[in-house]
Amino acid sequence: MNEIPPSAARALRAAVVTASDKASVGLREDASGPTLVELLRQLGADVGAAKVVPDEQPQMEELLASLADSGEIDLVLTTGGTGLAPRDRTPEATLAVADMLVPGFAEAMRAASFAVTPHAMLSRAVAVVRKRTLIINMPGSPKACREHFTVIAPALKHAVETLRGEAYECASPAILDAAAGGDCLKQPV
Ligand code: MTE
Repeated sequence: MNEIPPSAARALRAAVVTASDKASVGLREDASGPTLVELLRQLGADVGAAKVVPDEQPQMEELLASLADSGEIDLVLTTGGTGLAPRDRTPEATLAVADMLVPGFAEAMRAASFAVTPHAMLSRAVAVVRKRTLIINMPGSPKACREHFTVIAPALKHAVETLRGEAYECASPAILDAAAGGDCLKQPV
């Protein structure tokens, strides 16, 4: 019988990108980026980079693409630039570098956020995959980041294992039998 390889042997490798004109030139302290770094570390992630960029679409695209193309980052969380202000271009930059859309993350984040604030409708956040990296947008406030992170955290481990080609437990007949179809969805991160 084939042995099931150990899954997620490596810690989740993450990066955080803050999109903010003001924070990028020191006119405002970036509170959302450090919040996401802390939340990721609490989850056991290895956070390799935390960058602040202005709301410039080409610069965002270049950074997101280089993080994904490095082959060293499983997950990029962005914060800011998802709203309706004239300079908000984070979703456009994210879509421009996407190989695949992953609508479920944004659907779940917005659905949960409606219970908190009707302003949830104002976030145009998207989630995509580029190569083997998952990129998820979040709004630009620490409060919104915490609320969004709580929603996505339970699905991150399995998403990353799938992207790495390590999601063996989902295909394991033993586990599928035991769980009557998809215990992997119920496992903690
Ligand atoms: N979602 C949650 N869960 N909590 C929030 O506080 N803020 C909203 C929305 N989504 C919010 C939220 C607001 S006020 C805006 S303007 C949009 O996200 C976009 O924010 P951004 O432009 O900073 O990305």
